[in-house]
Amino acid sequence: MPIRVGVIGAGIMGADHIRNLATTIGGAEVTFVADLDADRAAAAAPPSARITTDPSELINSSDVDAVVVASHDSTHAGLVLECFEAMTPVLCEKPLAPTLMESLDVVAADADIVAATGVSLLSLGFMRRFDPGYVALRHAVRTRAQGEPLMVHCISRNASAAPGTTSESAITNSAIHELDIIPWLLDSAITEVSWQAGRSTRHAGTALQDPSFMTLRTADGTLTTLELYLNARYGYSTRCEVVSELGAAALQDSVLVGFEQEGTRREPIPADWRPRFADAYRLQLQAWISALANGEMPPLAGAQDGLNAALVAHAMIQSLHSSGASTKVSYS
Ligand SMILES: NC(=O)c1ccc[n+]([C@@H]2O[C@H](COP(=O)([O-])OP(=O)(O)OC[C@H]3O[C@@H](n4cnc5c(N)ncnc54)[C@H](O)[C@@H]3O)[C@@H](O)[C@H]2O)c1
Repeated sequence: MPIRVGVIGAGIMGADHIRNLATTIGGAEVTFVADLDADRAAAAAPPSARITTDPSELINSSDVDAVVVASHDSTHAGLVLECFEAMTPVLCEKPLAPTLMESLDVVAADADIVAATGVSLLSLGFMRRFDPGYVALRHAVRTRAQGEPLMVHCISRNASAAPGTTSESAITNSAIHELDIIPWLLDSAITEVSWQAGRSTRHAGTALQDPSFMTLRTADGTLTTLELYLNARYGYSTRCEVVSELGAAALQDSVLVGFEQEGTRREPIPADWRPRFADAYRLQLQAWISALANGEMPPLAGAQDGLNAALVAHAMIQSLHSSGASTKVSYS
């Protein structure tokens, strides 16, 4: 019997997850789609699936074995807690929540369930952990193939920021990927951060300093730099280079075809994150479904990973609000 999945939020990511679950993921069936926008739910849902504008109806439906939350960040904590009440496994898109307080609430509720049942119901969509490039980079770091890592340089660029993006939400929504992947990559917790910005593009609103530049210091002493540029206009790009004692290792852009013509070389750049991380989204979903089908704990990021990233984001926002002062991350 396939795992019957209900998907909440049928926007860019929800529609992508629905398409994957309905076409390439083995052992899953999308049976229910919820979106406040009924037309959007209907457009994204497979023909056999039910649709609703009420996510609670989906979570409590007997037609659903597991839930994907792909609605706005501000809805994550509440919907995950509802899934906990229904004792339904949930894969929540990143971030766990935009605020530290909500993240703590979810982690406390998750801990209660783990104490009572021995298993967590929550998986978190930090899908870079499934990206073949990041996996290979992590292997190189873990095996010390190039000696001890010393610095990491990350660049994260989008074509344009979502409407309403602020300098703070750029951290909790976008930079959160690096706040999760760097400790995972280096096997070392982020202990200290700083946030800086110089000139801002005229394409950013007044509430957003864009680009911004962040530093992350991990417990192992490695320093990571991150340029976050959400209105880069030209396309989507995620870069990561680990500089070690004997060499450097960097993610390669996943260009499938390059063009050479009239004395120039041209490589298409994706418009957004979906083509770049298509494999990661698919591998993550398959790992989640396969684990649920086998009665195992899914090997995805979990509640504590979401909280750790939220704690670092909280410190980063403190740095932003204190003129870029170096700020310690408190895990206690
Ligand atoms: N993992 C990644 O790489 C990645 C990439 C992009 C977005 N995301 C995350 O995925 C989530 C969705 O992002 P998106 O780009 O698809 O946004 P989107 O705006 O395209 O879609 C969000 C959808 O959720 C619906 N919605 C909002 N509140 C709802 C509610 N309470 N109940 C039901 N539906 C509701 C909206 O109507 C909309 O259709 C966000 O949390 C975002 O941070 C993750």
